[in-house]
Amino acid sequence: MVKDLQQKILKLKAERDICILAHSYMSEDICEVADFTGDSYALALKAKTAKQSTVIMCGVRFMAETVKMLAPEKRVYLANPQAGCPMAEQMDREVIAEVKKMYPDYAVVAYVNTTAQLKTIADVCVTSSSAVKICRAMPEKNILFIPDINLGTYVKEQVPEKNFKLLSGGCPTHAKMEKSDVLKAKAAHPNALFLVHPECRPEVVKLADYVGSTSGIMDFAINSEAKEFIIGTENAIVEHLQYKCPEKRFYPLSKDLLCHNMKITTLPDVLNCILGEGGEEIIIDEQERQQSVKCIERMIELGG
Ligand code: 13P
Ligand code: SF4
Repeated sequence: MVKDLQQKILKLKAERDICILAHSYMSEDICEVADFTGDSYALALKAKTAKQSTVIMCGVRFMAETVKMLAPEKRVYLANPQAGCPMAEQMDREVIAEVKKMYPDYAVVAYVNTTAQLKTIADVCVTSSSAVKICRAMPEKNILFIPDINLGTYVKEQVPEKNFKLLSGGCPTHAKMEKSDVLKAKAAHPNALFLVHPECRPEVVKLADYVGSTSGIMDFAINSEAKEFIIGTENAIVEHLQYKCPEKRFYPLSKDLLCHNMKITTLPDVLNCILGEGGEEIIIDEQERQQSVKCIERMIELGG
């Protein structure tokens, strides 16, 4: 059944000049039909290089919007229109415009997990894998980092030469993890390395052997000599790693590390989207796109 669906998708996407992009949190059956799977930074870069005229994003809404902003000539679809990122909806443009007035000499650095509208007032965008590099490289000394306070705290520690103002947004899934979850997992698996996403709280991140994006965590585990790992990000990564490295052992930091929004997209959604019976085409007002794409282009320029 899964194989039949996959065959259909592969045939149709070739016939219809479609590129399927899948975030690393997608299930294995979706990753297998994707042209490319990666973290949010790598997916943004693919918007520029994908040769196909249509892109289907299997991930959450801001990822599809990023592709549309960078490649307005393409038709871009979100495979499941219900897949939003709660963090991206936490702050709106008007609120940040007011905060900006309080800190006029601060550059606004927006995590890519934000709406297209909010990006219109950001000076530069970052992802979890590029945030430290970009904050170091940008010439501005004062940074207003939105919306993730946990990622912001991590970046602030890595870039002590700059001044940071942080606001209290964040990922409800990663922020649920506590120091006690780490201590419990380490006690159960004393030989395991602990790999964590910087969206987790500082007291959780401090206990990690490696801090990185979803792709960063996967690359680290695949290339490490170690044999056991506790994974401090969405549990899809545990599944992918166990599949890729059957000789190693991977343990979830907690069974609650689940992002409902990332789980919502299914293989049938991908097929329905190709057939025009599901999915949503991403449309962004051209004036808004021109304003919001600037901070993403600056991210790519500074992120290398
Ligand atoms: P990445 O930058 O690792 O892709 O993270 C995106 C995300 O939403 C993690 O929760
Ligand atoms: Fe958003 Fe968190 Fe889900 Fe990532 S894991 S998509 S940040 S809610």
